[in-house]
Amino acid sequence: MPKAVASLEPTFRNWASELIAPLIEEGGGDWVDRLANPLPTRAMALLVGLPLQDVDRLLDWAMTGTEILAGTTTPERMAVVAVKTGEMAAYLAEHLQLAIQAEEARPSAGVIGELALGVKQGLISESDGVAILLVLAGAGGESTSSLVGNAVRILAEQPRLQHQLRADPTRIPDFVEEAVRLESSFRGHYRAVKRDTWLGDVELPQGSRILLLWAAVNRDPEIFENPDSVDLQRPNKNEHLAFGRGIHFCVGARLARLETRVALEELLVRTRSFALDPRRPPRFVRSIFVRRHAELGLLAEV
Ligand code: HEM
Repeated sequence: MPKAVASLEPTFRNWASELIAPLIEEGGGDWVDRLANPLPTRAMALLVGLPLQDVDRLLDWAMTGTEILAGTTTPERMAVVAVKTGEMAAYLAEHLQLAIQAEEARPSAGVIGELALGVKQGLISESDGVAILLVLAGAGGESTSSLVGNAVRILAEQPRLQHQLRADPTRIPDFVEEAVRLESSFRGHYRAVKRDTWLGDVELPQGSRILLLWAAVNRDPEIFENPDSVDLQRPNKNEHLAFGRGIHFCVGARLARLETRVALEELLVRTRSFALDPRRPPRFVRSIFVRRHAELGLLAEV
């Protein structure tokens, strides 16, 4: 798996460079629209084995899908979300079926090919295969879009940090870790408590519904010194919970870190500096679940 993810780096780099080019030519633009949204969805499509020409549809479906968890969605909007999620499930079911029908000599590439094999061998049901694809498509795109956007906003606000990373790009992975800690893509995840238990010194009775706030623990001053600042030398920089913990630890963490590092390297190397565009202040998506920019206007100097 680590090797398979690492082998994607040249492709991601080409994509990042192609997506950044118009922003450079125009002296700026919306980072979300230009790169933070399309790059992770392309990466997810490639990994799963879905046609790259469907990226716009996948992006729309995936971003709409997580509105179910946003805590801000009106009943009217929920109806739209349900329709779109249904469309996405139908699309994924169709592609899984194509992969199942593919000739043995020419199996489909990517995760979908592996799932098709699992279905053929009776290891999983077809509906479980579709459910896995839905989770991957939902979890793989938006989370990384959030991080790629949040990381660039932090840098746009801190020119000294930007210059420091340009001077020493080997520190970019440290910065990515700080960015995901400070601006955790998922503020939290929901849990249903199956039996009476304790979390730290909090008693959790069976049947409770809880929200594990990764974002809050990632700024806990008892764990992280000066928690609200970027510290590239932080000794415990990997102790954050932005990718979860335990058996549900994020399967895409390596991929997300790679995509973010490559996007930052390409932006930093192509610019002398970049800053927030005062005419287009950053806008966040309204959600208690994700911390993602809806718009991030940049001014870029080359
Ligand atoms: C910055 C990007 C990302 C962040 C912050 C992130 C965060 C997380 C977190 C916090 C969890 C734990 C959820 C829980 O305990 O309920 C998780 C699980 C998961 N993530 Fe990610 N993720 C990211 C990128 C990705 C990518 C790129 C993929 C797919 C390629 C992915 C796929 C998954 C899956 C399938 C799980 C469920 C694992 C399980 O339950 O065993 N994630 N992620």
